[in-house]
Amino acid sequence: MKPQILVTRAVFPEVIARLSQHFEVASNQSDELWTKAELIEKLKGKVGAFTNGSDRIDAEVLDANPQLKICANMAVGYNNFDVDAMTAHKVLATNTPDVLTETTADFGFALLMATARRMTESEIYLRQGKWTKWSYDMFAGSDIHGSTLGILGMGRIGQGIAKRGAHGFGMKVIYHNRSRLDAATEAECKAHYVSKEELLKTADHVVLVLPYSPASHHTIGAAELAQMKPSATLVNIARGGIVDDAALAKALREGRIAAAGLDVFEGEPKFNTDLLTVPNVVLTPHIASSSVPTRMAMANLAADNLIGFLLKGKALTPINPSAAQA
Ligand code: GLV
Repeated sequence: MKPQILVTRAVFPEVIARLSQHFEVASNQSDELWTKAELIEKLKGKVGAFTNGSDRIDAEVLDANPQLKICANMAVGYNNFDVDAMTAHKVLATNTPDVLTETTADFGFALLMATARRMTESEIYLRQGKWTKWSYDMFAGSDIHGSTLGILGMGRIGQGIAKRGAHGFGMKVIYHNRSRLDAATEAECKAHYVSKEELLKTADHVVLVLPYSPASHHTIGAAELAQMKPSATLVNIARGGIVDDAALAKALREGRIAAAGLDVFEGEPKFNTDLLTVPNVVLTPHIASSSVPTRMAMANLAADNLIGFLLKGKALTPINPSAAQA
């Protein structure tokens, strides 16, 4: 009998077919949203789970499923995992780094440009039939080229955005990160390390790419928004909860900053509906990594982690390798 695994949400049929060569696969191809109790129940008897960012894997889930050995997230972020509890239960956690870096950096840049150049606002105006004449200041936004790009969180995706800004658009790039990059990487990204305060005060465009943890909760709140230039834009492609969305909606309404672009939201897929009442915000439903080839690569990497670990004892991209040591 093949080992049993659970795929918690719909995914490419090709990937289900690959997994089915090695496992008895219980999959959710109808893409129902399960409660935690349902997830716990569906995991019964499964040694592996193919998860995504909305599946919370914590002590309650693990206590109820002591047979579980690996959860393979189809995401680079893994704040849905209680990694300490997983390690304590000897459950390996894996994610999908690298394969999404360039696609996500592309999207971060696209969202930055759409935000600075007011694309959503102007498209809505056009669709509403309001465009009847040319005006000298119609949807005048701010420039990307030659401006100062501030990146908070300088991992792989942050570096991808820095390179696009510095090399493609002649931007001055400043960054802040828990730890400073080595000199060679800084030179490659043409990026200068500054304090968070200096970044907020001097950047024309602030892009957030840091991982979510209790320590990064509301990294940008009312006080930080007040430090930014009134002409500045803010882009969040990191995680909901890193920005205080209520404070941001207020700052946008009051013109404290010029505009924002958000791909992630506190409590998503629900979000603060105040954001719908301010025009100067571009909103997208957490799609930064969503190109067809990249989503396929992410799904295949999550599958490779399950196959590698459950069949050969070796996952490609483990988060807590010590969990796999007996
Ligand atoms: C998407 O947000 C991811 O973490 O891959």
